[in-house]
Amino acid sequence: MIGAALLLPPPLARTILAQSTPQPQAAPAATFARRGMIASNSELASTAGIEVLRQGGNAVDAAVATGFALAVVYPQAGNLGGGGYMLIRMADGRTAALDYREVAPLSATRDMYVAPDGKVTAGSTVGYRASGVPGAVAGLYAAQRRYGRLPLSVVMRPAIRLASDGFIVDSATNRSIAGDSALIARFSGRSVFLPGGAPPPVGSRFRQPALAATLRLIARGGERAFYRGSVATTLAADMRANGGNITRADMARYRPVWRTPIVTDFRGFTLLTMPPSSSGGVTVGESLNIVASFPAVPPFGSAEYLHRLASAYQRAFVDRNSRLGDPAFVPVPLGELTSKRYAARLAAGIGSSHTPTAILTRATGESGESSETTHYSVVDAVGNAVSTTTTLNGLYGSGVYIASAGFFMNNEMDDFTVQPGTPNMFGLVMDTRNAIAPGKRMLSSMSPTIVLDSARRLLLVVGARGGPRIITATSQVILNVVANRMTLAQAMRAPRVHHQALPDTLYAEPGAISAPVLDSLTAMGYAVKPTPGVAKVDAVVRVPGGYEGMDDPRNGARAVGY
Ligand code: DON
Repeated sequence: MIGAALLLPPPLARTILAQSTPQPQAAPAATFARRGMIASNSELASTAGIEVLRQGGNAVDAAVATGFALAVVYPQAGNLGGGGYMLIRMADGRTAALDYREVAPLSATRDMYVAPDGKVTAGSTVGYRASGVPGAVAGLYAAQRRYGRLPLSVVMRPAIRLASDGFIVDSATNRSIAGDSALIARFSGRSVFLPGGAPPPVGSRFRQPALAATLRLIARGGERAFYRGSVATTLAADMRANGGNITRADMARYRPVWRTPIVTDFRGFTLLTMPPSSSGGVTVGESLNIVASFPAVPPFGSAEYLHRLASAYQRAFVDRNSRLGDPAFVPVPLGELTSKRYAARLAAGIGSSHTPTAILTRATGESGESSETTHYSVVDAVGNAVSTTTTLNGLYGSGVYIASAGFFMNNEMDDFTVQPGTPNMFGLVMDTRNAIAPGKRMLSSMSPTIVLDSARRLLLVVGARGGPRIITATSQVILNVVANRMTLAQAMRAPRVHHQALPDTLYAEPGAISAPVLDSLTAMGYAVKPTPGVAKVDAVVRVPGGYEGMDDPRNGARAVGY
């Protein structure tokens, strides 16, 4: 995607940017239901969660069912070999944030991906050395144990069925496997995902017996089966045989962390969002606080609106990239970064034109979104809500597939600062606070968020996939709902922009910037570039009589309710 955005010659770029207002084409609609709703990247996975709601499960049971089902039907990002973040708000007002991010293996070192000549190797992105210790199973298990109502074996039943009986391959799954066949073919996933050298054909039934066996082990034995039992043994043996870093000891010591959600507000609405080790909640909160420091939000799509947004993102990302890291290892100025006073000070520095990022920081980067994560938003009949983002980082992670256990491993080590000043796969240029250390969590952009209305009733459950663009997309959908007064479908369809400080570029989706506004922004000093898409959001909103849910029209899976 990086290339697609950057290779366009300027006149063509201008034409694309100037396709002014959103096209009234066959506009995708939100799903409405009275009692419960799940929006995820996969209709099959959402249906798995709804099945559990119908059986008397609550939103946490349904989220866990959806999470395990995504590991089966959405193997490019749904996972057992990755990690993520979950934000929970129960209808009785209890809130929790669960950090089940991967950690660096015990043998990891700060410069493990830097060659003797000082150049960064591909080790953090592909192959056995790219993985952090997976947190997904421990996270889903911990959430279900603390907040779920049904036995884990019931919650996992739909995922086990999808893995063992198989599911019918659709064109999106077929295309996804084909698109990454070179990576998959390098490791042992090839016999499962490329039988006979090609992806399973559209319409065929795709079974994953090894994955079904692993899921059964977890359903029976809980997380211990994964972290201390045969899965850990087989994973560690595979790693050892192939130069990987994760050992049985790494697996045995993995723990998810319960954290206190960040609570912030935007013009009377309350935002509950994810604290570090993700940067997501801080950066969403900080940028919205900057926007809220001005007396009014300018009209959607105007030059002033885009200037405010871009300036807010630019400043919040400067902080994200230099002042955040795993709070167990480095000081994190959470109070300052999420305070209104600090936001007001940053807002006061926003003038009538663009401030180059170079004035705030040094270095350059490129912004890309070439990989996949998966977000799902869940609500149940009594108003319990779960917002979860999980990932392998890149599509199919590191490419490494633990054949006897049936899952792909993450390449999350690339989210660390592999070398200060060198952009990572998302173009993020980060500081030493996010340097690699054994047992440390790599900084993330995942931003699962829950918004309450002025009466503190559940309003919106939202989050996204798309690397650092998760932050800008999530905050724009929030703004669209609470400030721009859009319906969920309008809020999701509305074209988005992205700025991450470095590169010092305002990325715009088709239709985001009209021709006169482009002229104004250019005159203000912005470098504007087209981008095909700014992340993919999954959201549920409370409406009179029930809920609306929607997977991002940029992806297009149907949200499922009942
Ligand atoms: O944690 C992060 O910020 C990244 N590993 C997320 C990766 C991602 O969203 C890729 N999806 N498009």
